[in-house]
Amino acid sequence: MSKTILIVGAGGQIGTELIPHMQQLYGEDHVIAAELRPQVCEKLSEKVRVECLNALDARAYASVIKKYRPDWIFNLVAVLSATGEKDPQTAWHVNMGALLNSLELAREYKCGVFTPSSIGAFGSNTPSNGTPQDTVMRPNTIYGVCKVSGELLSDYYYSRFGVDTRSVRFPGIISHGTLPGGGTTDYAVEIFYAAVKGESYTCPIPHNSYMDMMYMPDALQACSGLIEADPSRLKHRNSFNITAMSFCPRELYEVIRRRVPDFKMTYRVDPVKQAIADSWPDYMDDTCAREEWGWNPVWDIDAMADDMLRNLKVKLLK
Ligand code: SER
Repeated sequence: MSKTILIVGAGGQIGTELIPHMQQLYGEDHVIAAELRPQVCEKLSEKVRVECLNALDARAYASVIKKYRPDWIFNLVAVLSATGEKDPQTAWHVNMGALLNSLELAREYKCGVFTPSSIGAFGSNTPSNGTPQDTVMRPNTIYGVCKVSGELLSDYYYSRFGVDTRSVRFPGIISHGTLPGGGTTDYAVEIFYAAVKGESYTCPIPHNSYMDMMYMPDALQACSGLIEADPSRLKHRNSFNITAMSFCPRELYEVIRRRVPDFKMTYRVDPVKQAIADSWPDYMDDTCAREEWGWNPVWDIDAMADDMLRNLKVKLLK
C-alpha cells in the first residue's frame, strides 16, 4: 500500500539517503522533506519536495502536516553525542522538542512516528557484550538521556493515545553520502575519506574500543522494514536493538590497509569521545528485531569497505 512519508531533519546523514529510498518504495510524490537550513533545503529541492521548517516551531510544523497529511513522520532531528556534550541544554531542547512536536502532531492528525534511538541509550552499567533488548539503561551523556526519554515518551504515546510509534537503536552508521556530524562513531566514516584522499588519519577513539556499526543500505532497510511490519507481531516498539557488525579502530584500519596498502593511521584520543565509547555496548543482541519484524542485515565489514572505497573514489577523485 502506498504511504506518504514526511522526513523531518531530512538534510542529515540518514535523511539525505532515506529520501531516495522512500521515493523508490512509495513514489516520488509521496515523499516530503523538511529541513531547517535554507541552503540545504535548496540542494534537496533538486530531488524532492521540500519545506523549510524549524521542527521546534509547533505552528509551522502543524501547517506542514495539514498540507501533506503524511502517514508516517520520520523524526530525524538530532544533536549527536559528542556535540551534545558541548552544549547539553541545547541538545535536550532540540532533541526532545522536535520529538514532542512530532508525537503531538501525530496524535492530532493520526499518523505514525519513527524516531531513531541509538546505542547511546545505554550506559556503563549496561552489559556490553551481547547487550540484551531489555536491560539497564542509565546513559551518562545528554544524547543518551534524550534517547532513553524519547523511547519512553514514544511508548507512552502508543499506549496512552494509540499513536503508532516505532524505533530502532541505530549503531554507528557508515555511508559515503552526507557526512555525519558530531557523533562518537564518526571516525568510521572519516577514516575512509582520508584513505581515499591519500591522507593519513588521526583517530580520536582508542585502538581497541569496540562499537556496533552498520552500512547505510542496511539502515535504510531497517527504516522501511519496521514501518511495514505487521503491528500484531511487535512485542516491542521503542526501541529495537539492531546491529550489523562490531569492530574497533584497529580492525577497521587493517581492513582498509588490505585495500590501500600505503594508508597510515595514528591515534590522538579525545577523552570525551573515549568516555562515551567506553560506556556504549561492544555489540548488541538484536534477536527481538529479527524475530518480531524480520530484521536481517546483509553488509559485513569487508563488503562495506569495498563499497565505501569504490564510491568515495568516484566522489572525491573526479
Ligand atoms: N552515531 C551516533 C553518535 O555517535 C550514535 O547514535 O553520536
